[in-house]
Amino acid sequence: MVRQHVNPLSRFYQLPRPLPRPAELFAEADLPLHLDIGSARGRFLLALAQQQPHWNHLGLEIRRPLVAAAQADGQALALTNLHYLFCNANVSLAPWLAALPQGLLARVSLQFPDPWFKKKHHKRRVLQPALALALAAAQHNNHELFVQSDVLEVIEPMVEVIEATGCYARPSGDARPWRLNNPLPVATEREQLVLSQNLPVYRVLYRRTMAQPPTLVELQQRLAAPLEQTAEAADNPPSSDAQP
Ligand SMILES: C[S@@+](CC[C@H](N)C(=O)[O-])C[C@H]1O[C@@H](n2cnc3c(N)ncnc32)[C@H](O)[C@@H]1O
Repeated sequence: MVRQHVNPLSRFYQLPRPLPRPAELFAEADLPLHLDIGSARGRFLLALAQQQPHWNHLGLEIRRPLVAAAQADGQALALTNLHYLFCNANVSLAPWLAALPQGLLARVSLQFPDPWFKKKHHKRRVLQPALALALAAAQHNNHELFVQSDVLEVIEPMVEVIEATGCYARPSGDARPWRLNNPLPVATEREQLVLSQNLPVYRVLYRRTMAQPPTLVELQQRLAAPLEQTAEAADNPPSSDAQP
């Protein structure tokens, strides 16, 4: 039986795993690469890889049995543009991204990440500031970053982190705060379930701008700033007799 969740901060999942280079994963390693973080059982990428043969598709997943099953599905169909890897994206992805050939990472998707609702568990959420910066450093102008979730309190901090990098913009004309539809032609398993229950899905498509990524410290300061300003404002409310 596959566990519902694993704790990504436990010692086992904190062990770095060197990930194979694209040349070891795909028949044509120089095709544009789509990276799906948290690919679970992998059926989304399995369908997409067949619909988009001129892309390579890589799923990363922390629950190893799901990776084995997904990889077997791809092999059964002899798909040479699809691969799944077992890893903790927060531990093993950044060094792999840093070594990627320039310009390859044309699309990243992060769909319905585990919510980890309790505040003390927020640090288990996958989109941490360091990961957002590693993605921004690996993506080039106009590359896509697509995020979606059915949980507002999960997607809002993701949007905050991505926008605080200063490296991504929404395509002009996209509805705000959430896109009206999915830009990808395949729905994930979680997405299908949510839609079948007529529940809302919150989506944003970003495109990489030419901006230089900040350092991690700068990004953390940007993320902390609104809170500090809010706290400061609460400590020093304007006096009621202040002139307009
Ligand atoms: C709620 S599921 C959504 C799966 C799929 N994206 C979908 O939309 O149907 C989130 C997935 O992310 C995986 N995951 C969570 N943290 C991860 C991490 N740090 N690295 C890689 N995968 C992770 C979980 O094991 C799980 O399979």
